[in-house]
Amino acid sequence: MKEEEQQPPVHHLLLHHHHHRQRVAALAGKKFTKHTVCFILLLLLLSYSLGYISAPSHQYPNYSSPHSPSSSSQPTHINIPQSNQKNTSTPATAADNNNNNNNDHYRFTTQCADPVPSELVRQTILDRVFNGTSPYDDFPPEHASPLLRPRRIKGWGSTGAVFENLIRKVQPRTILEVGTFLGASAIHMAELARGLGLETQIVCLDDFRGWPGFRDRFGDIKMVNGDVLLLYQFMQNVVHEKASESVVFVPFSSGSGLEKLCEWGVFGDLIEVDAGHDFHSAWSDINRAYKLLTPGGVIFGHDYFTSADHNGVRRAVDLFARVNRLQIQIYGQHWVIHQYSSSA
Ligand SMILES: C[S@@+](CC[C@H](N)C(=O)[O-])C[C@H]1O[C@@H](n2cnc3c(N)ncnc32)[C@H](O)[C@@H]1O
Ligand SMILES: *[C@@H]1O[C@H](CO)[C@@H](O)[C@H](O)[C@H]1NC(C)=O
Ligand SMILES: *[C@@H]1O[C@H](CO)[C@@H](O)[C@H](O)[C@H]1NC(C)=O
Repeated sequence: MKEEEQQPPVHHLLLHHHHHRQRVAALAGKKFTKHTVCFILLLLLLSYSLGYISAPSHQYPNYSSPHSPSSSSQPTHINIPQSNQKNTSTPATAADNNNNNNNDHYRFTTQCADPVPSELVRQTILDRVFNGTSPYDDFPPEHASPLLRPRRIKGWGSTGAVFENLIRKVQPRTILEVGTFLGASAIHMAELARGLGLETQIVCLDDFRGWPGFRDRFGDIKMVNGDVLLLYQFMQNVVHEKASESVVFVPFSSGSGLEKLCEWGVFGDLIEVDAGHDFHSAWSDINRAYKLLTPGGVIFGHDYFTSADHNGVRRAVDLFARVNRLQIQIYGQHWVIHQYSSSA
């Protein structure tokens, strides 16, 4: 899937800043004599360099102190160790994992609650997210029903052979899917599991917002006062395909949702990661999802070869495998990592 990447308007901000400074200088010129201005500038320069010299030289940023909003408008300088800028294609060293001085971006919570038994996963989600009732009860609501299509499914490689291969191999009781959209892959997995006689519960984690501008291509998914009906259309698809008994969902962002699944002890035997395709989204999703794998489980995802964000998914998967000494298998566009595939 190609998502439009919005570049932050950096030059715009800089220009604005520049104009602002010119205006401030012009105003100052009206009120003060040249000497006063010179004196102030000198003072500023002096305190700037003094501040620079006396700035704390932490080895890595301390999140609480340096940028206290109440402090002066002088910038605080923090020395970031250069060793952080690694060549990402070099092999991992023990330091990658153990040197906790400068690897903040490798750190994710590792302790989750004890796993809930797989037969209780669905009820756990219903209790935690929907106050104990099924969101499919009385669906669709009257006001939304005329706005939904009976079945509107579109995915990307969502029925590739990798799904059947992995479900046959892993025989999952619980599947976690990060990134669901209209449910193409989730419904396909539900049908595969049913066909294999498995009692598999599929937990779909998606904020059901799509991405900014997705309605350029999915204009038939209605929007009501700025609220796009993606969740309802997904639910409608699940109901239409008679999969509501095996597909449950967590309609929140992948970051907060995965942290909650960890806290609730909801683990997956098979985990599919297919949400944000930029490096930082993929990196955090994979790290957060991996700790939710049951022993011997498999994690996989789409778009290993997408060019979005300069191969963001591939960079994230490769870095993850390198740091954790795991092997990557490729199935078409999909990457696959088996939990115990140590390459060391
Ligand atoms: C490529 S689509 C998923 C397609 C689906 N797996 C399939 O094969 O049919 C990506 C989905 O990820 C969701 N998504 C993107 N970033 C997200 C985030 N940070 N939190 C939750 N969902 C997110 C979007 O709403 C979108 O539905
Ligand atoms: C990174 O390391 C690899 C192999 O270790 C090497 O081939 C490559 O040229 C290096 N890239 C940079 C930018 O140093
Ligand atoms: C949750 O359900 C209970 C009954 O099971 C009800 O008393 C309570 O008001 C509900 N809470 C919310 C926030 O809907």
